[in-house]
Amino acid sequence: MQHPVGHRVAADGSLLLADFWAFLFNPWAIAQYAHNMTSTVVTASFVVAALGAFYLLQRKHLEQARLFLKLGTTAGLISSVLVAFPTGDVQAKHVARYQPVALAAMEGRFESGPRAGLNMIGQPNVRERRLDNPVTVPLALSVLAFGHTSSEVQGLNDFPERDWPDNIELLYYAFHIMAGLGTILIAIMAAANLLAWLGRLEKTGPMLWVLMLAFPFPYIAVIAGWLTTELGRQPWLVYGLFRTAQGSSPMVSGGTALFTLLGFCGLYLVLGVLFLFLIAREIAHGPSTETPRREAAHA
Ligand code: HEM
Repeated sequence: MQHPVGHRVAADGSLLLADFWAFLFNPWAIAQYAHNMTSTVVTASFVVAALGAFYLLQRKHLEQARLFLKLGTTAGLISSVLVAFPTGDVQAKHVARYQPVALAAMEGRFESGPRAGLNMIGQPNVRERRLDNPVTVPLALSVLAFGHTSSEVQGLNDFPERDWPDNIELLYYAFHIMAGLGTILIAIMAAANLLAWLGRLEKTGPMLWVLMLAFPFPYIAVIAGWLTTELGRQPWLVYGLFRTAQGSSPMVSGGTALFTLLGFCGLYLVLGVLFLFLIAREIAHGPSTETPRREAAHA
């Protein structure tokens, strides 16, 4: 969908699979899979570290809390670095190469040119085709996108408006939230590991509070990443081949689609509330101190 390969267009205009191996080893899909899987490890690590910090602050289940903290912070540092580099970096290079208009929108970049700076902060002003109040790291976008300071990075003005992503503002903010949180997550885990290495993590209350409260960040980054991908691909359903506007079915009415959407929202709301309730109950209950039956039998 994002970077279709291994297909051919039949006489009636339909798309057929022509090369299974090209399809299976689509470089975009491999990079995206790696980035997604790494982001799940980041999320799990932050949750485990948060639980360890919570029990330590409460002075409860200390043996398990230390284990959670060590595991969560070690895996958290490794995975937070990997989610930015190489997986996030490779993803960004693929977007630059195969969806340059999406990259321009993600960065709020309207003018084309070499030696492009990375916009860290700013508000895209689509009507006037500029980024308001930008704070930019010089040359960084050229390097991140193509590996050289002198590389040319296209801006939105280079593309017809009908090919621009529909919601440039949301795309820009989603990308910046994901990448910004990615940087914050590395900083948190680097600080926690440094304190652990100095033997002071358990005694540093503020760091335990940060670890305990930071667990929603990876969830937010995951949603922002997904938004970046899906908004960036617009206005295409299958990139470059099939527009979203062509993708609606004449067999499904607007009412049916709305009803199904509301049904899914309701279902996920119930599942979400149930998930939070069960997790809170397990955390309050704490880890079991009983020896598992199989181990007891071998003892
Ligand atoms: C500095 C760090 C990061 C960089 C450079 C980066 C880069 C990217 C890029 C370029 C995309 C693809 C956008 C597109 O396809 O149009 C993406 C998607 C995504 N990112 Fe990140 N990212 C970073 C951090 C994170 C973090 C911390 C998480 C979560 C913990 C995350 C989760 C995701 C997810 C879930 C997607 C969507 C993938 C999909 O829909 O298959 N990213 N990221």
